[in-house]
Amino acid sequence: MDLKILNELFIKMYGKPEVGPRCFFAPGRVNLIGEHTDYNGGFVLPCAIQHGTYLLVRPNADGVVRLGSTNMEFSTAIPVGELSQKVGNQWVNYPLGIFDQFRKLGITIPGFEMLYSGDIPNGAGLSSSASIEMVTAFALNMILKPVPLEMIDLVKMAQRSENEFVGLNCGIMDMFAVGMGHKDHALFLNCLTLEHKRVPFVLRGFKLIIGNTNKQRGLADSKYNERVAECQLAVTYLSQSLPVSKLGEISFMQFFKMQEEIPDELIRRRARHVISENQRVLNSVSSLLKDDILQFGALMNASHESLRDNYEVTGFELDTMVAEAQKMNGVVGSRMTGAGFGGCTVSIVREDVVDKFIEQVGYEYHLKTGLKADFYIAEVSDGVREIK
Ligand code: GLA
Repeated sequence: MDLKILNELFIKMYGKPEVGPRCFFAPGRVNLIGEHTDYNGGFVLPCAIQHGTYLLVRPNADGVVRLGSTNMEFSTAIPVGELSQKVGNQWVNYPLGIFDQFRKLGITIPGFEMLYSGDIPNGAGLSSSASIEMVTAFALNMILKPVPLEMIDLVKMAQRSENEFVGLNCGIMDMFAVGMGHKDHALFLNCLTLEHKRVPFVLRGFKLIIGNTNKQRGLADSKYNERVAECQLAVTYLSQSLPVSKLGEISFMQFFKMQEEIPDELIRRRARHVISENQRVLNSVSSLLKDDILQFGALMNASHESLRDNYEVTGFELDTMVAEAQKMNGVVGSRMTGAGFGGCTVSIVREDVVDKFIEQVGYEYHLKTGLKADFYIAEVSDGVREIK
């Protein structure tokens, strides 16, 4: 991203500032393992990546918030009194939800000029929305300096904004990874207690490859909320004999003994995914701490299988890309990442076969789905920050 060009564009849009705008950056994230566990109070293991969202921002006193983006045509100017209203299905709802959260804390909002620019593919499951939310929350916190908010407060604020304003009942993983990410480390997070640890994630001789199926997620949001409801139903059954409020509180052994208490086979499978995935995250952390990348790869493969058969959030495109990846020599593990129903896969690939991987998986994927895939070599990066 050329920040000089972005700065010139800012001046063209909003006029020459007496003091230059401040620049902030929030990454996207890729989840290594622990899928659809976060809203169930389970474990996740994501990391921040080099792609993300830049925000140039300047406060003003005219009581209007101006929002523009180099990625989207839609731009708007909204008087601060009207910041709590959603604007159709526009991208500006992500920053607006954050403004709404600051307002709910009783923090006075002046006017702002804001220009966003990102290089995370939209709707690919790499958290472009959490990246916009977190860069906004972080920047407002730095500029307005209200009662100082900690990073964890900003993370929770971004999740509330997505739940209440945007209307997706997502968990906390994405915002957490975008806010707390750390170079060369994955984040091992307990979504129930928010306890977290950094797990070194340096792949010696391997690369982390993100494959974008370019299959638009379509009805993903409604299906996502449907899964959230199915898990709540599973808890209703299981909590009749065990005092739990989330599936993440149940161990795999406990579930194994009591699964028949869920009369509905489909709901039982949903619970089986969440509870087994939780165990896979724990096993993954031990594998990574022992530098056992082969074991970790096997857990990634098992995660995909469960997301496909138990949780049913993969679909033809993701399954095809993962199957083609898993077939290749030198691929240690491969799975879908993010919400599913389209979006991205993540694979661990031996360095010397990376080019072949991109060529071969891309070719077979195109042949079978008619879609062109994109591949990115992920660099595990730091979380949200100001760029001086
Ligand atoms: C989306 C949500 C996350 C998480 C994943 C699935 O990315 O935003 O909170 O639930 O799906 O693991």
